[in-house]
Amino acid sequence: MVETTISVIKADIGSLAGHVVVPDFILDIARKSLKEGVEKKIINDFHVTNAGDDLELIMTHFKGENNEEVHKLAWDTFMKGTEKAREMKIYAAGQDILADTFSGNVKGMGPGSAEMTFEERKSEPIAVFMADKTEPGAYNFPLFRMYADPFNTAGLVIDPNLHDGFRFVIQDIKTDIPSFIEMKCPEESYDVLALLGSTGRYTIKKVYRADGMVTASVSTDKLHNIAGKYVGKDDPVAIIRAHSGLPAMGEVLEAFTLPHLVSGWMRGSHIGPLMPVGLKDSRCTRFDGPPRVIGLGFQVSNGMLIGPIDMFEDVAFDITRQRAMEIVDYLRRHGPFMPHRLHDQDMEYTTLPDVLVKYEKRFVDYEVVPKGKVKDTSDSAK
Ligand code: 13P
Ligand code: 13P
Ligand code: MG
Ligand code: MG
Repeated sequence: MVETTISVIKADIGSLAGHVVVPDFILDIARKSLKEGVEKKIINDFHVTNAGDDLELIMTHFKGENNEEVHKLAWDTFMKGTEKAREMKIYAAGQDILADTFSGNVKGMGPGSAEMTFEERKSEPIAVFMADKTEPGAYNFPLFRMYADPFNTAGLVIDPNLHDGFRFVIQDIKTDIPSFIEMKCPEESYDVLALLGSTGRYTIKKVYRADGMVTASVSTDKLHNIAGKYVGKDDPVAIIRAHSGLPAMGEVLEAFTLPHLVSGWMRGSHIGPLMPVGLKDSRCTRFDGPPRVIGLGFQVSNGMLIGPIDMFEDVAFDITRQRAMEIVDYLRRHGPFMPHRLHDQDMEYTTLPDVLVKYEKRFVDYEVVPKGKVKDTSDSAK
């Protein structure tokens, strides 16, 4: 039987007014471009949306992962949008477009991608999560809860089909050449947590059921690894299959009820709570945040998408949002102090090193300089 592939490819190609939302005209350009992709039989179906300032292309096709035609369609769509965004002087036009020409795959060119290929079950409910103002490691916590925490997922205890556990493919995103390890829960869950707790370094790439059935796929693309400097956060996406031997949709969503702390937010340099929101609130405002995640539910049916359902647009998540905003208020009072502001090492690719460089020469051995007479060697003192 033919296998269906879901490809979610995203990029920030410019936003209103600042890093807030993708303008409507860019969404229209993207829809038109993907419609042409359907007409040319490159993809079967699509849904275009935005997670704050990130343009999200959700596509289905029968061509498998890393397919050049599908990736080129996404790339060309981003290029068309970028061209218009530049013409209209939209803020940060072409932010995530880090290459001049397409070279076979969007990987390493700026956009992020998560893909998953499977033989459709009798019924195929999926959720696509899309976050803004954070990084791929933001999904470590909810995905571990979904697939390895019986206090989140009742099925791990009471459904025999989940009882054998799940395999996590974890990526070390600090290495130049992609480096992966496969680990099994529950057997290795303490060791899995030893890695996943380091969210800036180890991120879940894929999750499989013990018998090899694929169930989750996450984008792990790091922009600064490509650009060599801070150009924006890596605002990640995740595709999750639910039900019939996998965590139920309610168990998948339950994993987002704690607004856990993630890095990102203002200038990609702060810690803040990840707030699940409906599409109408998919817009990062206060201090460019707080970091947000949207969740769209679809049924995949013979290679087509039925839906979406706006999963977090529900009163059931009001308490999570309320808690998130209380945390926001508390954290903001720390101003430039850690741990609200990220640790020095995580600021390596931001603009902070440029601020500090001029003071480098002024650090002296205090013992050999009379107290209060440390010489000012800065340019402004000359
Ligand atoms: P984005 O990564 O969403 O573009 O945000 C960048 C930023 O610096 C926000 O303050
Ligand atoms: P500006 O330098 O345009 O103010 O950008 C700050 C920022 O948000 C970094 O992404
Ligand atoms: Mg942006
Ligand atoms: Mg963004």
